[in-house]
Amino acid sequence: MSTTDIRPVVIIGAGTLGRRIGAVFAGGGAAVRIVDFSAEQRDAALAYIRDTAPRLRDQLQESRPDLGTVTVGSAEGFEDSTEESLSDAWLVIEAVPENLDIKRPLFGTLDRLAPGDAILATNSSSYASRMVVDEVTHRDRVLNMHFAMPPRSMAVELMSDGETSPEIIDRLVEELPNYGILPFVAQKESTGFIFNRIWAAIKRESLAVVSEGVSTPDDVDAIMSANLGLKAGPFASMDQVGLDVVLNIEDHYAKENPHLPEGPRQLLHRYVDAGKLGKKTGEGFYTYDSDGNRIAEQ
Ligand SMILES: NC(=O)c1ccc[n+]([C@@H]2O[C@H](COP(=O)([O-])OP(=O)(O)OC[C@H]3O[C@@H](n4cnc5c(N)ncnc54)[C@H](O)[C@@H]3O)[C@@H](O)[C@H]2O)c1
Repeated sequence: MSTTDIRPVVIIGAGTLGRRIGAVFAGGGAAVRIVDFSAEQRDAALAYIRDTAPRLRDQLQESRPDLGTVTVGSAEGFEDSTEESLSDAWLVIEAVPENLDIKRPLFGTLDRLAPGDAILATNSSSYASRMVVDEVTHRDRVLNMHFAMPPRSMAVELMSDGETSPEIIDRLVEELPNYGILPFVAQKESTGFIFNRIWAAIKRESLAVVSEGVSTPDDVDAIMSANLGLKAGPFASMDQVGLDVVLNIEDHYAKENPHLPEGPRQLLHRYVDAGKLGKKTGEGFYTYDSDGNRIAEQ
């Protein structure tokens, strides 16, 4: 039994991503602790993990019979006792809202309270871990560990904060597949890591093609599905995520690279200003019924 089987994985933030990451580790046999100051979020996360982890355990055994018996790890919730929850953790994954005013002080706290050899990871989608370590003394143990939407996608992207110990990245690359997770290392700091950066370019060009009048959302999605076998094309996917979120992401890339074309953002703005945010408002590039099913155009 390795230390990672005995020592817990601690997830800070029990929201959309935190509970999913917790389920993946519990499914792979880890003891998981969930920290969130909202009791409602903690309870919902624990219910999700208890429901999802056994199924993930079965899938793991099917895909990796060499693993032998995988037991479902336990999951516990903690009120606000970050210190108690961190005791003995080997890995701490932060999944709190995308706000540096929350993340920066939190990493200072984690650095002070977590065991000296614990790895401290942020699941942030848009911030390099370099940007959360202002209050951290031991920066060699901090990195980005970006899950997109587990368990639907088990890929995770690892990226140094500029000072991360290479041994930590090597260790995670070796350890994570034991939980069915597929690690990929961004070899240099990159906004959007590997996948989101490429996907942002696809979304941007799809928006450009429509804003220039070359094609329609329907046809772009259809040709992307025909040629690449995508289940959901770029426009259906943007409607799912929320056009306000997509615009925020694109604004973030544009701040770093002022040469990006404005047409895609202008098109998004028109929808957002009209309150058409995608599935969540019933209308975006497509229209949806109250169950979120797409209504065919007449
Ligand atoms: N939602 C996505 O599609 C997605 C995908 C990939 C990565 N991410 C990243 O994951 C992170 C979390 O996103 P999310 O969508 O799960 O957020 P969310 O809003 O669903 O959940 C955040 C949780 O953090 C809790 N929280 C806030 N401050 C806290 C603190 N100081 N200590 C403990 N808990 C605290 C909140 O109560 C909430 O339950 C973000 O950095 C985001 O960029 C999100």
